[in-house]
Amino acid sequence: MSASQPDNISIRLGTWDRLRDDASAVRHEVFVVEQNVPPEVEMDDDDAVSVHAVAYGENGEPLGTGRLLPDGHIGRMAVLRHARGLGIGGKLLDALIEQGHGDGHRMLILHAQTHATGFYEAHGFVAQGEPFMEAGISHVVMTRVLEPRG
Ligand SMILES: CC(C)(COP(=O)(O)OP(=O)(O)OC[C@H]1O[C@@H](n2cnc3c(N)ncnc32)[C@H](O)[C@@H]1OP(=O)(O)O)[C@@H](O)C(=O)NCCC(=O)NCCS
Repeated sequence: MSASQPDNISIRLGTWDRLRDDASAVRHEVFVVEQNVPPEVEMDDDDAVSVHAVAYGENGEPLGTGRLLPDGHIGRMAVLRHARGLGIGGKLLDALIEQGHGDGHRMLILHAQTHATGFYEAHGFVAQGEPFMEAGISHVVMTRVLEPRG
């Protein structure tokens, strides 16, 4: 975790109805504008059934987002370029892992962009199998086992 992790970042968890505007603004900037993912690929039906996390800066501006599907898939992790490397992605991931624990999942799974595997490894995820292409970007499956709480 970065030594410069800011304390003034707040994480909100909620439904798509509540967080749609802020989450989709960040995702559009990162995936569509920066990574050239087609908008119709970036948006899908899973948003409506996912728990979303959004990170806000000290002035209430959305800086990052991610989501947890009902089946334990984490996805759409994105932090605005100027806010990266400060621990915001880590805070979002921790919040989604905690949500997964609370939902009773025994395993979480994600499709990591291969350049970002180090980020997920730092949060307990392990790569499984060979890389594959998704939305024109190289990905690899990663999983993290969650121990039940006694
Ligand atoms: C991946 C992403 C969400 C990480 O968010 P972040 O706020 O920069 O993450 P953090 O600051 O919590 O952690 C960064 C750590 O991960 C490590 N890391 C490894 N690969 C990385 C990568 N490709 N991008 C960013 N960080 C990476 C960094 O070295 C850093 O480690 P350190 O804290 O020991 O220096 C962000 O870089 C992003 O939005 N990237 C573009 C979209 C994307 O690729 N999303 C992933 C889809 S699977």
